Amino acid sequence: MAMHLTADEEALLDSDNPAVRKAMELLVRLGDIYGADEMVEIASAQASGISYKSIGDPGMEFLEGFAEEGAEVRVQTFANPAGMDIDRWEEMGVSPEFAKKQRRILQALREMGVTLSFTCTPYLAGNLPRRNQHIAWAESSAVSFANSVIGARTNREGGPSALAAAITGRTPKYALHLPENRTATHRIHVDPSLDTQADFAALGSWTGSIVEDEVPYFTGVEDATTDDLKALGAAMAATGAVALYFVEDITTDETPPIDAETLAFESGDLESEYADLTDTEDTDLVVFGCPHSSVEEIERIADRLEGESIQGDMWVCTSRSNKTWSDRQGYTDTIEAAGGTVLSDTCNVVAPIEEMGYESTATDSAKAATYLPGFGNQRVKFDDKLSLLEEVTE
Ligand code: F3S
Repeated sequence: MAMHLTADEEALLDSDNPAVRKAMELLVRLGDIYGADEMVEIASAQASGISYKSIGDPGMEFLEGFAEEGAEVRVQTFANPAGMDIDRWEEMGVSPEFAKKQRRILQALREMGVTLSFTCTPYLAGNLPRRNQHIAWAESSAVSFANSVIGARTNREGGPSALAAAITGRTPKYALHLPENRTATHRIHVDPSLDTQADFAALGSWTGSIVEDEVPYFTGVEDATTDDLKALGAAMAATGAVALYFVEDITTDETPPIDAETLAFESGDLESEYADLTDTEDTDLVVFGCPHSSVEEIERIADRLEGESIQGDMWVCTSRSNKTWSDRQGYTDTIEAAGGTVLSDTCNVVAPIEEMGYESTATDSAKAATYLPGFGNQRVKFDDKLSLLEEVTE
């Protein structure tokens, strides 16, 4: 049965503005495919697929054409990371040709009214949804955080559907927009204590590969910081397609599900996950900030690097707003005096690192460790932040 549309939504389908019409047509098709009964109004959107590395000329020209046709966002819409630091691309080693195309994408987004935030942690940078609010976000770690930690409701949108939702202010109401789909399918008891953000990422990597796109409920986790939770969610979204999870007494007051399949995460699983995510010991770039670093993470890195000197290259990736606080607190100066670079707007997964001559990365992100081997045979070493910093300052 076709979806019910309100009079306002019918008017969007008949709009004189071709971009609005196309956006609404796409959402109606999507809703019909997934069996949605109706649309739901959204409070915010997140546009992904905006790095020139990911979308190339066809994507750039699509965005430019869409902007020219009069596409304009109706709700707060933050942009996901771009392929370069918009100010420091030359220093990063990005080519002028790439930078020119990335700037054309930026211009198209600006014309559409998208906030040029270029971050995958919009919730740390000024776009914070409320519990039960419907949103249409696209970057998988941000989707996971919004659903699980904040309790907002979003499916994992693709670049075009998130943009269509931003332009119409609506999204089809199916999957995670419906309360009946927001219940746990697996109960996972975590046996070892999780001492670092990388331990949470390793747990996420293990869990995602087992539960795939379902909903885990963790027990046995004593405590978790916001950074731990963003690392956990990012990893599960990378090795599976987990978009919602619960951690007992931390993200939810609900009791563990009774009928869910129960699994145990043991110390041996934690150790073997570190080994599985690593395929080299020799690396030429160390990267922190996947998902984008919080100010606290940058502070920890700066504290460890005070008066030290790094061997090789090191990036700390963050949002432009967090970089501002890092600059003011003196963290950026400390990290850069040691030989690192604090970059905004980008990360090593969406930047053209293979063209920049890097062949292997050390990271504390299970998401980056999962994705990087797909790009130009990149090799990866996965370890905890402080252990990696120890190694590069020896
Ligand atoms: Fe963000 Fe890039 Fe990682 S977009 S989640 S830092 S792969």
